[in-house]
Amino acid sequence: MSDGIFVHQFELGPWDNFIYLLGDRATRTCAVVDPAWDAATILREAERLELKITDILCTHSHFDHVDQVDPLLDEVDARVHMLNAEVEFSGFRCENLVKAAPGDKVKIGDHLEVTMVHTPGHTPGSTSYRIRDALVTGDTLFIDGCGRCDFVGGDPAVMYETLQTLMDRLPKDTVLYPGHNYGATTTATVDRQLESNPYLQHATVADFVAHRMTGKTPNSALPPRPDWSPE
Ligand SMILES: [Fe+2]
Repeated sequence: MSDGIFVHQFELGPWDNFIYLLGDRATRTCAVVDPAWDAATILREAERLELKITDILCTHSHFDHVDQVDPLLDEVDARVHMLNAEVEFSGFRCENLVKAAPGDKVKIGDHLEVTMVHTPGHTPGSTSYRIRDALVTGDTLFIDGCGRCDFVGGDPAVMYETLQTLMDRLPKDTVLYPGHNYGATTTATVDRQLESNPYLQHATVADFVAHRMTGKTPNSALPPRPDWSPE
């Protein structure tokens, strides 16, 4: 990414989670998005890239996105950001927790400003993180998929509204960085997703809800996912 900032994506754990380091080159500082499964690997990755972790950004409270927050805090002094709606919903607690509001901005180093975008549907306080021409989407949007809405706190009608709003407002060349590696590619632009993501093809909320709640995966070539899978 240009202008001295970057997005580093890597996959971790048995559920194909993507972890992100959002970094500022000049100060070698970064935020970790959704630290899960293995804090040692996340720390090693930051060390390999010579990055100091100053912030942790949570897209939502499911354990496959936050279970390494506490182990990371044992090793680094970082603020932890989660929307207050998600904190209230889940009861999530940790040290240095910043209970944020939609639109709040997190400054990383000198150049990187990350905006918290409220994207409910998978959970009530699900958050996407906007950085210039990119969006880290957590379990809201996957490449050619979207997050499940049948867990506690999920709501497919709310998810429809969230996805419509995102697609209406984001510039078409925005790069989407999903929370799981479920697609044929690891990222995609908004205009590509508007063409190929089956969950973005519905003209009515009723059609979307029917599709989302049938439990069919968008790519039928994949083996069926177990009940606890995020998609
Ligand atoms: Fe989730």
